[in-house]
Amino acid sequence: MSVQSLSYLGLNVADVAAWRRFATEVLGMQDAGAGPGGQTTLRLDDQAARIMLHASPADDLGYLGFDMADAGTALALAMSLQAGGIQVRPMRSDEADARGCGGGYVFSDPDGLQLELAYGMQRAENGFKSPRAVTFVTGDQGLGHVVVATSDLERGIDFYGAIGFRVSDFIETELAPGMRVKLAFLHCNARHHTLALLPLPTPKRLNHLMVQVETSDMVLAAYYRAQKANHQIVRHMGRHTNDMMLSFYTDTPAGFHVEYGCDAVTVGEDWTVGHHDAISIWGHEGS
Ligand code: FE2
Repeated sequence: MSVQSLSYLGLNVADVAAWRRFATEVLGMQDAGAGPGGQTTLRLDDQAARIMLHASPADDLGYLGFDMADAGTALALAMSLQAGGIQVRPMRSDEADARGCGGGYVFSDPDGLQLELAYGMQRAENGFKSPRAVTFVTGDQGLGHVVVATSDLERGIDFYGAIGFRVSDFIETELAPGMRVKLAFLHCNARHHTLALLPLPTPKRLNHLMVQVETSDMVLAAYYRAQKANHQIVRHMGRHTNDMMLSFYTDTPAGFHVEYGCDAVTVGEDWTVGHHDAISIWGHEGS
């Protein structure tokens, strides 16, 4: 039993209008309007809801929703979590409406992040139209990846392992002078990592959200749009050691970052766990 992909996520942001403007004008996502719960819904493809913006002073990740094959698989995984001592509840109908899914189950990771197993994702009747002519790489690989802070790396790997995540590799490096950390990168489909765990005691759970686009032209065009819109480029263009992604990182109106990239490798059954001592082959320098 395994989750299939990162289907959707909720962001609690203080300035929804500024984040929506950033998501559409800089990142090229589609504003799909207000959802039934009053949240702003963003599209990256023809799935009705991929990112939900909720008005909240938290400026952090609210929840992650994982796609399940069907209601039966979701129930089976929920029951096995419950048997393992994890508190699980059925998704309420208002929550399912807001996420555009048929239903699901809700629980929390060991650090209190809300996780959801969802099935029956709705498609947008009128498809997807990017205001910046961007094509996102989604499908079986899900909406992208998130890097979240964890208080205990091994416990986090075990916990996410129970819902189907497998380690792709580790990077152990000095993120800043005197700050040596070991990050774990986890996959649940062909995307090299859907989730990375960062064992740092940061006040916010979300370090960054990554979305992948089809071409390097799309990445570079967004790189210039972010700068023209006066967003800080947190890491300039570079290529990662582990997933080989060509990307940059921009600040967002909520303080956490967005990585925008292309060209990542995919993982298959024959993938072996790797160890790296640097984040990037070249670039990704801070500004
Ligand atoms: Fe990333």
